[in-house]
Formats: sequence, C-alpha cells, structure tokens
Amino acid sequence: MLCLGIEGTAEKLGVGIVSSDGTVLANQLKQHIPTEGIHPREAAQHHADNIPGLIKKSLAEAELNLGDIDLVAFSQGPGLGPCLRVSAITARTISVSKKIPLIGVNHCIAHLEIGRLKTPAKDPVMLYVSGGNTQVIAYEGERYRVFGETLDIALGNCLDQFARALKLGFPGGPVVEKLAEKGSYIPLPYSVKGMDLSFSGLMTASLKAAEKHPVEDVCHSLQETAFAMCVEVTERAIAHTGKEEVLLAGGVAVNSCLQKMVSTMTGERGAKTYVPERSLLGDNGAMIAWLGLIMHKAGVRQKIEDTRVNQKYRTDQVNVTWRPPCLQKTIKITPHPNKAHTTMGVWSSPVMTSP
Ligand code: ATP
Ligand code: FE2
Repeated sequence: MLCLGIEGTAEKLGVGIVSSDGTVLANQLKQHIPTEGIHPREAAQHHADNIPGLIKKSLAEAELNLGDIDLVAFSQGPGLGPCLRVSAITARTISVSKKIPLIGVNHCIAHLEIGRLKTPAKDPVMLYVSGGNTQVIAYEGERYRVFGETLDIALGNCLDQFARALKLGFPGGPVVEKLAEKGSYIPLPYSVKGMDLSFSGLMTASLKAAEKHPVEDVCHSLQETAFAMCVEVTERAIAHTGKEEVLLAGGVAVNSCLQKMVSTMTGERGAKTYVPERSLLGDNGAMIAWLGLIMHKAGVRQKIEDTRVNQKYRTDQVNVTWRPPCLQKTIKITPHPNKAHTTMGVWSSPVMTSP
C-alpha cells in the first residue's frame, strides 16, 4: 500500500510518499519565509500556491503517478487554521477524485511514529521541541500522554523571537547555536513548574541581558538554560515511566548542544538517546504518510465529515489502537529535583519561576 502524506501545520509545507513496509519513497519540503512573525493567511496562501507543484515533485521523486496512491493522509492538527485547511482540502480532493481513503492524523504523534520507524527506539519518551510545540510525550494506557509541556511559547519560537528582536535572522535557532559556540555562561531565569516549562520570561530576560552582555554570551546562556529545563522534565518523565529510551523530535532537536545534553542525561541513567535523520526530524510529509498507513492498517477509517481540522488537536485525544499496551516498568532512579544537565556537566540550580 502507498500513502501520500501532506504536512502543512505552520510555515512549512511537506509532501511525502511512504509504502506500508516503511520505505520513504519521497519527502519534499517547501518553506514560507515570513518577514515578521508567521501570518497564518500568508502562510496558507504560500501552501495553496505551492501544493500542486510539490505533489508533482513528490510523485516524480517516487517515480509514481497519482493513480498509484492507495491512501491519502494529512495533518489534521494542531496548527494554524488557514494552513491546516489547505492540506485538508487538498487531501479531500485527492480522496474524492481518485476514490481512495482519506485519513487525518495528529501532527505530534506523527513525529513520534516516524522516530519509532526510523530509529531503534521502540517505546521512547519523546522530547518534541519545535517552533510551535514543546512537549514531553510517552505512551501509557493506550494513549500518548503529555508528561510536560510549555505553558506559554514553544522553545523554537523563543529562539526565533529572540533572534528577530536582535535582527540576527530567521530562523533563530541555527543563528543562536552558531553564536553560542563562542559564548560564556551568565545566569538567566530557569523556569520549570512541576513538569511544565515556561520560556517567555527567559526570552525577555535574554533580550534585557543582550543590552549589557556580548550577544555570544547571551545565546550560550539562553541555550544552556532552556535546554537544561527540557532535559530536567525529560529525565523526570523517564524516572516516572521507567522507559529506557529518549527520542528527539522537532526542528530544535537538530541542535548539537541539546543532543549532547540529552545524551549525557540518558547515558548517566543507562538509557539511550535516538535522533532521526535531519529530513525526518523537523516537519515533513513522510511522517504524516507513515502515521496514516499504520492507523489505516489498524482499522481506523474516517468519513469526509470526520476530517474537519482541529487547531488544538491534543496528543492525548487520540485513541492509539495500533500499539499493544506496554508493560509498566519499575522506577529505577529518582532524579534530584534541583539538578540540571548542561554542556558543562550537571549543576545544581535554584528552580526559579517567572512571575
Ligand atoms: P511545528 O509545526 O512542529 O511546531 P515548525 O513549523 O516550527 O514545527 P520545525 O522544522 O519542526 O518546524 O522547527 C523549526 C524550529 O526549529 C524553528 O523555531 C527554528 O529556529 C528551530 N531550529 C532550527 N535549527 C535549529 C538549531 N540548529 N538549533 C535550535 N533550533 C533550531
Ligand atoms: Fe512538528
């Protein structure tokens, strides 16, 4: 069976083709580059203008015709309404005209399932860090549960807004990573609240710090602080669930400093870190196609009227019928609550909260 998957939750448009044995036959991406923050209607217009060409390119890459496709999947949410609707309408049109089944999938779960397909991770805790999402997710009780998440902006958005305000360029993540290499540490607010994270106070404090410190130092410290917060929550999710794998997902996860910090933490716990290849780490159409395929194989069917987009589609709203229930494992180590992992090692920090 061949599935064409359409991703269009925010500023990126992706079309992928995957076969039921898990081979990625095509994975095409086109990105809208906004001048200011992402304007949903402008991004949607970009997607509408580019989707026919991107589907053609995907079919050419896979050496297929549209008539060869057996199933069409699209990201139903979460995301920006106007962008989601472009993918949904395109998928419905293909479904009706080619008389093939249609399936709307949860974008965050697609990141996790492509990671399980393309890395040795079987039952991981996923740290999903992107421009629009920051969540720590793991499978428990036939659902993907959110163990911790941002209470305000996503980590990638924090880096993008910081870089934009200082006119460093877009996307901010890679620029901040480069500058951070030459920087030294200065204290910034560290904000973990229970299992949740907050980045907006950190971003404001970083912009203030940039008024009196070299930008390299601020970038370095922004990364160290934000990533240590993510590692702390991920570590506690591992301790709670007893799982032995961490899967990284989302555009921020390409950051080598974050990868190193997560690996240090998992190494100390006797756990493993897995990072999918770059083209499958950020948003992409192949992950949507793969989730569509496994859901379809598990018997999930949708009528057109069930394919309405859902901007706030929660990870834990999806009934995960395609995975057998996993056995609970015993908790092995309880992490120190005030311990943070940084590239400089493990340090004790006061857990500060922003107002
Ligand atoms: P989603 O719709 O899942 O929220 P997205 O539209 O933000 O995803 P992604 O490709 O998953 O798309 O992530 C883009 C984000 O990744 C941007 O915020 C960008 O700054 C960040 N990013 C890219 N490269 C790096 C890097 N090297 N270090 C840190 N962040 C990075
Ligand atoms: Fe994503």
